[in-house]
Amino acid sequence: MKRAAAFLASFLLAALPFGASAADAQADAGSAAESAKGKSIVVYFSASGNTKAAAEKIAELTGSDLMEIVPEEKYTEADLNWHDGESRTSVEKDDASIRPAIKPDTKNLADYDTVFLGYPIWWGTAPKVLWNFVEKHDFTGKTVLPFCTTHSSSEGESGRTLQKLSGNKGTWKDAKRFPEHPSDSDISSWVNETGFALKK
Ligand SMILES: Cc1cc2nc3c(=O)[nH]c(=O)nc-3n(C[C@H](O)[C@H](O)[C@H](O)COP(=O)(O)O)c2cc1C
Repeated sequence: MKRAAAFLASFLLAALPFGASAADAQADAGSAAESAKGKSIVVYFSASGNTKAAAEKIAELTGSDLMEIVPEEKYTEADLNWHDGESRTSVEKDDASIRPAIKPDTKNLADYDTVFLGYPIWWGTAPKVLWNFVEKHDFTGKTVLPFCTTHSSSEGESGRTLQKLSGNKGTWKDAKRFPEHPSDSDISSWVNETGFALKK
């Protein structure tokens, strides 16, 4: 199982201060935003905060910008009740055509070369909010690194599904699954593997 194969190595990140002194040209050159890999952004949807916390950590460790995908209609606790077959999320799960409306972007995706794309797993896949987002955006020329938080499921086919919905535009990496409350070292291990960690 991929989950069981969780990363063995753990990496301690040096306490690289953000906004490091201008004199520290080395650190500036290490910024993801200015690296040869170009500009990066962490885009995420989070209904109850778990994916948000992971997204913020990834943005910190990679020097990426951050953008939340915000549904026009916030998900209430009742909406998120998976025990209720009539709840909003249950209804959305059962209708492949549903695309919950999302608020306008606060950043221009066209400005970025790399997109970390975060979401919770709902019913074994990415929420329909994500389906809407990837259908609306053009990932041509971008590298997309999907990641998710889940209670216990694997990432499943969630990344591939989003890739297909995007029209297979861009270069999509395998989705990374995190638990609901990943440790800093869970996240830094993966970030180091991606090659997008800020240089120390
Ligand atoms: C409607 C719904 C369906 C869910 N389905 C699954 C699932 O299939 N497998 C799983 O492991 N966790 C499932 N979860 C748990 C979430 O994936 C998990 O709590 C996640 O970290 C929530 O992220 P968030 O706080 O960013 O919204 C589900 C949660 C909700 C609300």
